[in-house]
Amino acid sequence: TPSADVKWLGTPISELKRMPECGRPLPPLRDIPGQHTVMIRTDLLHSGKAPVPYPAQFKDTWDTVHVKMPCSSSNLFPVEDEKTRELQIKSRWQLIKETLNKEFTNPLDFKNAILKYSPSHAKNWDFTAIHLYFTEVLEPDAAEHLFDSQLPDMVQLALRAPELCTKPIPLLKRGMDHSITMSQEQVACLLANAVFCTFPRRNSRRNEYYNYPDINFVRLFEGSSSKKIEKLKTLMCYFKSVTEQKPSGLVTFTRQSLNKPPTWKSSQTHLTKLHITFEGTIEDDGYGMLQVDFANQFVGGGVTSSGLVQEEIRFLINPELIASRLFTEALDHNECLIITGTQQYSKYTGYAQTYQWGGSHQDTTPRDGWQRRCTEIVAIDALRFSNFLEQFHPDKINRELNKAFCGFGRPEEESRNLAAVATGNWGCGAFGGDTRLKALLQMLAAAEAGRDVAYFTFGDNQLMTDVHNMHSFLTQRNTTVGEVYDLLGQYFSSVCKSCLRGRPDVSLYSFIYQQVSSSLAPDDSDRRSARQ
Ligand code: AR6
Repeated sequence: TPSADVKWLGTPISELKRMPECGRPLPPLRDIPGQHTVMIRTDLLHSGKAPVPYPAQFKDTWDTVHVKMPCSSSNLFPVEDEKTRELQIKSRWQLIKETLNKEFTNPLDFKNAILKYSPSHAKNWDFTAIHLYFTEVLEPDAAEHLFDSQLPDMVQLALRAPELCTKPIPLLKRGMDHSITMSQEQVACLLANAVFCTFPRRNSRRNEYYNYPDINFVRLFEGSSSKKIEKLKTLMCYFKSVTEQKPSGLVTFTRQSLNKPPTWKSSQTHLTKLHITFEGTIEDDGYGMLQVDFANQFVGGGVTSSGLVQEEIRFLINPELIASRLFTEALDHNECLIITGTQQYSKYTGYAQTYQWGGSHQDTTPRDGWQRRCTEIVAIDALRFSNFLEQFHPDKINRELNKAFCGFGRPEEESRNLAAVATGNWGCGAFGGDTRLKALLQMLAAAEAGRDVAYFTFGDNQLMTDVHNMHSFLTQRNTTVGEVYDLLGQYFSSVCKSCLRGRPDVSLYSFIYQQVSSSLAPDDSDRRSARQ
């Protein structure tokens, strides 16, 4: 058993590359039709100054390829005339403005306001959690501040949508390789609209947005679990920060697909460096690295409802990530979403059931040439396994390798400019995967992408030792990615296939040690002399 004194193994973390030091200068930021939508004036982008929205006037679109904005003139609403009882079609944005501009004096006003412009949901929507937050969680002073100042500021932020988000936001649909760059202020405006549940056509999955994550926060307000309260505290901390002090940076959302997967079988690539530790987290210790979000195909997973594991926590402490849910269609097997520039606003303690908001966080991450925080997060969704053996099937192995490679690979960059991948037990919590297999697959994908790996085992001391030993064993023997891939195939056909249910008799790592050692490795002198 490993000694608890050994906190990390492999390459010292100080030897792994981080941004901004390892990167090359960015080209000037510009809007490229069909590739990159930039929602601000790039010519006026200066450090510390609020970015200026572009174009100057709200461009109203209402179609199938852009986000339907609450402030669109096509966002209509039938109202019954009190006298004639006739249905009249009114502007929904007008109603939203009138409703939200009225003073919030008591906790019920929040609920009543939202229901006013979403009346068809009045029966099913439950506001217990937000009500508890307003009435029982906040100290009287804090509640007063919320109603007198923070909520009105959030309303004004939401209502500035037609001034701030003037350019139509493209939907990042399946198969599209496209980036959107917007200011943190624009993100804040979109998220304020999400709080007040103003996004049209987004309250039911039985319509055109069935393949998109939820964006309106209504499910965050329901129920009475303490988890919800902690989530609300975390998000309110974000809104307090952005309403008191305008953030001045930009954030880029990039949907990326992998069209030509590597030929894993014949890859001659060698493994890259590994730093592995059972202490620390991706977000704290992986600063400047490519940080993996253990995602759902609907990015953000249950962040606006009840989920509270790795992805949801990251989206709560860096809430700008949540904006991706507005425009990112469910990820396909060969796709990922890369989010660059989000800021951390909160600290936290605990995990899942024990998660607690830990107060506000001052993010001092440096900004890049596009005024983005040097925090790059990649959402990759692992497969969910209910049957342990299934994940060793070659089809599943290929899928996971390609998904990870899609997330880690940067075809335009040279390896020397790429930061290490900061990852951990991807797909091995809620999604039930095997940590030892997934660690190996991620090492292969990172090697193929030309990046080193910082692996956080999240308290698992034994896993740290096992993965480190496997990595050392393979690198000492100069084993290639193709050879490891082949061993995975052999493991499936000779161990897993014959096993009908439950766990295989021989573990993957024991199998690899046996196979490689018995195949006349150069340093396997005992066996060689025995054969002679
Ligand atoms: N740093 C490093 N490792 C971590 C961290 C962290 N901050 N947090 C957790 N871990 P899980 P999945 C480890 O279950 O299985 C969400 O709902 C910890 O060991 O979040 O890919 C998504 O939206 C944990 O058990 O990822 C998806 O729907 C393990 O990482 C679904 O969960 C896996 O974390 C994805 O589930």
